[in-house]
Amino acid sequence: MIEYRKIPITKPVFDESEKEAIVKPFETGWIVQGPFVAEFEKSFAEFTGAGFAKAVSNCTTALHLALDVSGIKAGDKVIVPSFTYVASANAVEYTGAKVVLCDIDIKTFNIDVNKAKELLENDVNREINAIMPVHLFGLCADMSKIMELAKTYRLKVIEDSACGLGAWIGNQHSGTFGNAGCFSFHPRKSITTGEGGMIITDNEENSYKVTSLRDHGASKTDLQRDKEKGGSLLPEFNTKGYNYRMTDFQGALGVSQMKKANYILNKRREIAKRYDESLKDVECLITPYVPEGFVHGYQSYVCTFTNDEDISSLSIEKIDRLNIKRNTLMERLEERGISTRQGTHAVHTLGYYKKNYNFSDEDYIYSYAADRLSITLPLYAEMTDEEFEYVVNEIKV
Ligand SMILES: Cc1ncc(COP(=O)(O)O)c(C=O)c1O
Repeated sequence: MIEYRKIPITKPVFDESEKEAIVKPFETGWIVQGPFVAEFEKSFAEFTGAGFAKAVSNCTTALHLALDVSGIKAGDKVIVPSFTYVASANAVEYTGAKVVLCDIDIKTFNIDVNKAKELLENDVNREINAIMPVHLFGLCADMSKIMELAKTYRLKVIEDSACGLGAWIGNQHSGTFGNAGCFSFHPRKSITTGEGGMIITDNEENSYKVTSLRDHGASKTDLQRDKEKGGSLLPEFNTKGYNYRMTDFQGALGVSQMKKANYILNKRREIAKRYDESLKDVECLITPYVPEGFVHGYQSYVCTFTNDEDISSLSIEKIDRLNIKRNTLMERLEERGISTRQGTHAVHTLGYYKKNYNFSDEDYIYSYAADRLSITLPLYAEMTDEEFEYVVNEIKV
């Protein structure tokens, strides 16, 4: 029997290169949004194949700016999947627009495109003008169908790719299908800068707008002013901007993490594959599904707890009954030192949205099920064989 272990849900990959990187801004004197932020942006654009990449303080502010520069404002409506982190919906609310929740496909945890189509068909006054597909846990939403809908209904497409580094459809990276893609570098993500976010787009004009809006609406960046003559003169401020800047410490960390991105993502995929194999006979769990032609980035390895019951038809009672058993499994693993989490939450069950949009639990039944039945297993690039075996054996007990 393997001894008791303490296994976290995830762990960043840091070594001496990160430690060396974060002291460099002390040497350059650029503390905020300087040369390392610029270098991080360049390597991120290269990795994803995007025309432009702009770093910001986190993915929530990235989503806010991406919606803003796409023209989303009060009076508009934006389709958002009902199973996602609350920040996706909150970013829409920041613009003054309203959220139109859409249920998910429980198999992929991503937006159910047929349901999105129904919402658009029923939108007789044409109030919905954008959609925010979320590439949850590192798996792309069905972007070819979403882009078709966007074309038919003239929607702006803002991809919430917070979890989407290393998520591809064929050879196209997440975040490059729509008008803009937004990424997170929170420590739960595959690469991290502590807090941090990135907006990618092919639209040059919007990339300029982001550059200005993230910096109080300034007409020039400090880095530009430093390079040009007349740096002592303040720039113009012609729009109401925000302070969504990334520091150069984070930029330096980002540069260092990007050098490891492929190593980290490949290791995560390798471990995910081992989980798929090792758990395929565990009847209480369904392992993550990857559609043909999609490459999963495995920001999280999220299973569905079914207890070997058929979940093609669901009721609140059935979900709640299974939820008690899932929680028992999670508690047992916790007692054995293994961290697990539910995948993310169903937005319509959260206090603010429940109250302000008058939602009830059954409104988005698959999102409710994903909230109550998903279980994230520990996954990190440097997970040892011994740790892996320990987790699998404890699940199989
Ligand atoms: C799907 C999704 N969207 C948005 C966010 C917000 O990212 P950040 O914490 O960088 O603001 C997260 C973070 O977990 C997320 O998972």
